[in-house]
Parts: sequence; structure tokens; C-alpha cells
Amino acid sequence: MIKLINVHKRFGELVVLDGVDFTVNQGETVALLGTSGVGKSVLLKHMNGLIHPDSGEVYVDGLSVPHLRRKALSKLRSRIGYVFQFGALFDSMSVRENVRLGITDQECIADDAYCRNRVSECLDLVNLPAGTGDKYPADLSGGMRKRVGIARAIAGQPTYLLYDEPTSGLDPVNADIIDKLVIKLRDSLGVTSVVVSHDVRGSFRVADRIALLHNGTIRTMGTPDEVRASTDVAVLEFFERDFETFLDAAG
Ligand SMILES: Nc1ncnc2c1ncn2[C@@H]1O[C@H](COP(=O)(O)OP(=O)(O)OP(=O)(O)O)[C@@H](O)[C@H]1O
Ligand SMILES: [Mg+2]
Repeated sequence: MIKLINVHKRFGELVVLDGVDFTVNQGETVALLGTSGVGKSVLLKHMNGLIHPDSGEVYVDGLSVPHLRRKALSKLRSRIGYVFQFGALFDSMSVRENVRLGITDQECIADDAYCRNRVSECLDLVNLPAGTGDKYPADLSGGMRKRVGIARAIAGQPTYLLYDEPTSGLDPVNADIIDKLVIKLRDSLGVTSVVVSHDVRGSFRVADRIALLHNGTIRTMGTPDEVRASTDVAVLEFFERDFETFLDAAG
């Protein structure tokens, strides 16, 4: 379970999180939505200790993340797969080497046969052909690079998956492939996930619950039906605008 209680975070004068309460139950997928720059990535980074709160609590798996010492934090991180917003693949490494970096267990890392096998398994899980392992990030399309980032995030057999904008910049066909993948990984691996997104349509498809971050707090959080039924002006404005964008995009 992931639980944030009254989290505050500012950078200088800029207040980004102003009392965020946010819970993700075991096995659940929650989509975190909000306009650009509202603090979605900042919130996500609290969950694996990349950013510390100024005040408030952050618990993952019952552990208080900001209070973990280095060794305990890296142990927790080995159970959290993180899909970075901009891929964060190493261009000088092959796809296979990039995915192998996600294997976190020390004994496994030392076992070449295990690693080779695990990398192939993960590429297969994200529907990339086996030959992709020998390619380099620069040889791949945007959608394929996103999938390599996801393959790396799952290589260490995490119990939590944090996705930062896994579909941004993708055409609808590739975005659909990633959305289906998020659902498949939840169902086949039983992971607990947070999916940060701009994509309202995709979020409503993949998430058990939807949260909207607005002006430093979680303005609404509920099942897709509950969010659709909201009469809160801020919620309506956010979803209305996106609905229009979606209609525009559909032509
Ligand atoms: N390390 C940092 N130091 C200073 N300011 C930061 C830092 N990280 C984020 N910010 C600021 O915090 C705000 C929220 O950033 P964040 O990246 O979380 O937005 P976001 O909701 O993920 O946006 P996007 O949808 O564009 O990815 C922004 O104004 C950003 O400039
Ligand atoms: Mg972001």
C-alpha cells in the first residue's frame, strides 16, 4: 500500500504540494491527473524517496520513506519499478543492457544466464520482438522506447510500478498499446501502480481510481464513475477541456 498524509513541498517560493492525502491500495491502479506543471512528477518522486517532503508522511509497504536509511531505501526501491517521464534510457547501451539495469537482486545480477533470460522475458511482456535486445535506443520509435523503459521497470520483479506519463507524445495507436500493457501488468504481476497522465481517456480505461491534483491538493479521488459524477467546478473544467481535446483529435 502507498499512503501519503498531508504532504507539503515547496521549491523556494513555489508551493507545489500543499497538503496532499493520497492512498493506493494493494493491487490497485490509480491514475494521477493534472495540468502540466501542477506537481504530478514531484508527487510521484516522493513515493520512491527521490524527493523528500517538507512535512507530512509518505508510507510505502508500511515503511516511512523519508526516514529510511540508504540501505533500507535501496531495498525498498528494488521493489518499486519506476518508468521515467522521458525514458531515461542510456543511448550508449543496447536495449538488452538497459533492461538488465532494472534487475536489482544482487545474486541475480551476477548470474548471466538468469539476466539474459529475464531480459527476454521482460521484452516479451511488453510485446517487443526478441531481436530488439540487440538494438540501441536511437534505433527505436518513441513507442518502443517507452516499452523498453517499462521492461526495465519490471525487470526486478517489483510489487509497485510508478509510471510517469507512459503515453505522452505517442500517437493513439501506440498509447493504446501502452494502456493495454498497464492493465496486463496489473493483472499478470498483481502490481500496485500509480500512472501519472495527461490522457483522460486512457486513464479512465486503465485505472481503478482516478485522482486529480489541483492547486497543491488532491481535488478529487474516486472510481471513474464517481469522478464522472463530480459537480466540482475545478474537476469539471479539467475533464471538459480534455474531452474537447479528445474530440478535436478524433477529427
Ligand atoms: N527539483 C526541483 N527544483 C525546483 N523546482 C522544481 C523541481 N522539481 C519540480 N519543480 C517545479 O515544481 C513544479 C511541478 O513540477 P512537476 O514536474 O511535478 O510537474 P508535472 O505536473 O509533472 O508537469 P508535466 O505534466 O509537465 O510533467 C514545476 O513548476 C517545476 O518547475
Ligand atoms: Mg511530470
